[in-house]
Amino acid sequence: MAVSPARRAEQLRREIEEHNHRYYVLSEPAIADAEYDRLFRELQDIERRHPQLVTPSSPTQRVGAAPQSHFAPVSHAAPMLSLDNALDRAELEAFDKHMRESLEQDKVEYSAEPKIDGVAVSLLYESRELVRAATRGDGFTGEDITANVRTIRSVPLRLHKAGKPPPLLEVRGEVYMSREGFARFNAGAGERGEKTFVNPRNAASGSLRQLDPAVTAARPLHFFCYGAGPDAGAPPPALHTEVLERLKAWGLPVCGHAGVARGLGECVDFFRQMTELRGKLDYEIDGVVYKVNRIADQQTLGVRSRSPRWSIACKFPAEERETLVKAVEFQVGRTGALTPVARLEPVAVGGVTVSNTSLHNMDEVERKDVRIGDTVVVRRAGDVIPQVVRVVADKRPKRARKVKAPKQCPVCGGKVVRGEDEVAARCIESLSCPAQRKEAIRHFASRLAMDIEGLGEKLVDQLVEKGHIEDVSDIYALDAKTLAELDRMGEKSAENLVAAIDKSRDISLERFIYALGIREVGEAMAKALARRFGELEHLMAADEAALLEIRDVGEVAARRLRECFADDRNRRIIKQLQSNGVRVQKTEVTGPGPLQGKIYVITGTLSIPRSEAKRRLELAGAKVTSTVTSKTTALIAGKNPGSKLDKAERLDVEVLDENAFLALTGK
Ligand code: IVH
Repeated sequence: MAVSPARRAEQLRREIEEHNHRYYVLSEPAIADAEYDRLFRELQDIERRHPQLVTPSSPTQRVGAAPQSHFAPVSHAAPMLSLDNALDRAELEAFDKHMRESLEQDKVEYSAEPKIDGVAVSLLYESRELVRAATRGDGFTGEDITANVRTIRSVPLRLHKAGKPPPLLEVRGEVYMSREGFARFNAGAGERGEKTFVNPRNAASGSLRQLDPAVTAARPLHFFCYGAGPDAGAPPPALHTEVLERLKAWGLPVCGHAGVARGLGECVDFFRQMTELRGKLDYEIDGVVYKVNRIADQQTLGVRSRSPRWSIACKFPAEERETLVKAVEFQVGRTGALTPVARLEPVAVGGVTVSNTSLHNMDEVERKDVRIGDTVVVRRAGDVIPQVVRVVADKRPKRARKVKAPKQCPVCGGKVVRGEDEVAARCIESLSCPAQRKEAIRHFASRLAMDIEGLGEKLVDQLVEKGHIEDVSDIYALDAKTLAELDRMGEKSAENLVAAIDKSRDISLERFIYALGIREVGEAMAKALARRFGELEHLMAADEAALLEIRDVGEVAARRLRECFADDRNRRIIKQLQSNGVRVQKTEVTGPGPLQGKIYVITGTLSIPRSEAKRRLELAGAKVTSTVTSKTTALIAGKNPGSKLDKAERLDVEVLDENAFLALTGK
């Protein structure tokens, strides 16, 4: 007797799920692709003829959800924590010692796992079916990316019955792009003239943030899980490694290189093994995670605000690679400084491809003795800019050429000089050198300066080259008609830019000072100057002695300021800016301030914007930095504080709440 369509559809679903699991999770396909396609088409066919038989978790339903307009917020049942880091062996030792002492055990057993370099997600299974997927967000609230995650083939839409998954299972893990998939994707995107990504992690993150799930479906994404929510099945598992075993049995992908390490010695061994394995894996890992294996012990230890006490991550040291210096060219900056830049044979290091790197100045080139034709070691750690660490001396070819500082500016052909007390050689044609004019204009328009949105690098190039802008005051004479005629500008973007220029006309004194781009005068000094002088005219009239009274202003900066404001051309430009409608506001003049010399860090949400909190502290003379160190006076912690709170606790740095902060700044 023929089976009913409903029975057949269910049979097919189970069979296809099984093959998906073998193919995408176990990497052990059991049938040929053609056979799989036949099963899939049969199921599609039944579902087409009997639409009432379609279930949300059917393998045919991975792709096809309609594009969304936004990602809805999802609040996590328990916060998605991050991990504290051990930076070296000594810190790992300290962690293990702390664990042994707190748990009163001679040797602690850890689950040791590769730290997958992807994007953290939470999956929710209800009665075995995937019902929701969310990003980590700020740890408390993430975004609903269910439709996108459903397209990832290694994420089961339905869990295996065997091993009885709990009725409500939360799974946490990492979505990543394989190295091979990343290379293939970028090559294709490059050919089509589409956006490419710098590394697999950014590619995974960008792919998950697509509003159209069909786009995500075409990206080579994978998933590994590394933990479960409070209910991980019955009876409750005693060990974290048991949780991972169960997840695997329910059909979820778990990284095959996770293991157990008993005591510090085995942790160190595991780290060494992973360091060796790292380059051979088809996915990126950026370290190792250790977790106290016994769940009862985890509960005894508990969690800090942002990270569990029972776990630590050991990141790999910065990656280093060798490559060839093909040439050294000189770039001309805003102040005319010539910066040597090494053109390298492209090399993948620390997750990005490096083909250029700054050598900073000629002293640096000579100190490292970098020559054209040399093999050099390039290093990149985390999000840090790649740099040349050293030359590989025994790989130097006979024909390697010394780098010569140019006698003429590579852009305008002007004279190059190097002052006695300076590291940089400079083109002195500051008024006519187009490279310097362009840089000065870019700086003037940049976010921390006048903040003219839309006036980017390419546009400045065109405006200078076509003669529309000579100096920064000409920005305020631009009209929509002129702008609309430029390459890649339409009427709409021209209007937007005119509006952005207009918006920048009212500007605070500190931003204006910074925007002038005077050498040695950074953001912090611009602030201090604004507070001391209050009005642009007063600053312009100040002599060196008055400038030197400010704590942060040294002799060189004082001289540069004087030179800038004494220069006729600069005075004319400032006047022209004002007649073109730029209004520099006055700043309240303050003395040294009650918080002079103190250093604060802010974390979490306060009832006022963080920039305002920063401003108030700075007005009182304090410095505000972003990293907690032993020098930090106090950490100001608002609601939902970040990992900075953990660090402050660790370093015994005072923690102030919002009320204490308000009392401090007298508001
Ligand atoms: S456990 C309760 N295990 O690393 C601790 N995290 O800051 C939660 N990660 O965002 C994390 N591989 O997404 C854990 N085997 C692993 C991991 C892992 C990668 C990510 C995780 C988190 C970050 C740590």
